[in-house]
Amino acid sequence: MRTPVVAGNWKMHLTREEAAGLTRDIKEKVGGEENVKVILCPPFTALDGIVGECRGSNIQVGAQNMHWEDEGAFTGEISPLMLKDIGCKYVILGHSERRHVFGETDEDVNKKLLSAVRHNIRPILCVGETLEQREEGVTDTTCREQLEKGLEGLSQENAENIIIAYEPVWAIGTGKSASAKDAEHVNNYIRIILSGIFSKAAELIPILYGGSVKPDNIDELMAQPNIDGVLVGGASLNGDSFTEIIRKSALKTS
Ligand code: 13P
Repeated sequence: MRTPVVAGNWKMHLTREEAAGLTRDIKEKVGGEENVKVILCPPFTALDGIVGECRGSNIQVGAQNMHWEDEGAFTGEISPLMLKDIGCKYVILGHSERRHVFGETDEDVNKKLLSAVRHNIRPILCVGETLEQREEGVTDTTCREQLEKGLEGLSQENAENIIIAYEPVWAIGTGKSASAKDAEHVNNYIRIILSGIFSKAAELIPILYGGSVKPDNIDELMAQPNIDGVLVGGASLNGDSFTEIIRKSALKTS
């Protein structure tokens, strides 16, 4: 059985004070929920403060990106050692905004993933097709390629420590979520690819869906057998809607 995962990607939003306020609100409303793993991913500037806010609760904290090297002349970058230093346990890697706005390649994502695992930081690897790729009918092959390249060299033992998020690029921030049926199709396909690479561990890896997740589409998404949770952007910036998504996700039983 896979515990449902709800991760909030706050992207480039919130000052430290705003982030702390939102975290307290989330803690108050759903801090006691047991059947769900909540991960907050604030911007780097707020990370340290949010790790402090979450100490003693079962809410975990993740970064939105990192460099693969431990240190060096990489102006503007943040290393896995720095994330570890502040107690950050997760990192989102290969988000579509990193790939499409900042030109990250599958090779970059792979180096980051192996480095994160080496440092005991659990990667949330994002994959997903653009609208153009969907219209060309290459959704499955695009996700397959991103997965195979992103996971290259990952050992069987470490496979249990990763999370995958399927985020179709056209559904991100558009208000237009993939249908539950389409999301389940891709998540199921991802599970098949993972089984080919990792055999047994594939059943343990949480596969999330992301892209315009809201309180009114969460039930249908979470009802799908291969949707183990969600990666939420816009709706995670609002305490009421994010905690409603968390509460509803915690109801998943299988
Ligand atoms: P939205 O929920 O705003 O569509 O963003 C999804 C996302 O990119 C999460 O990583």
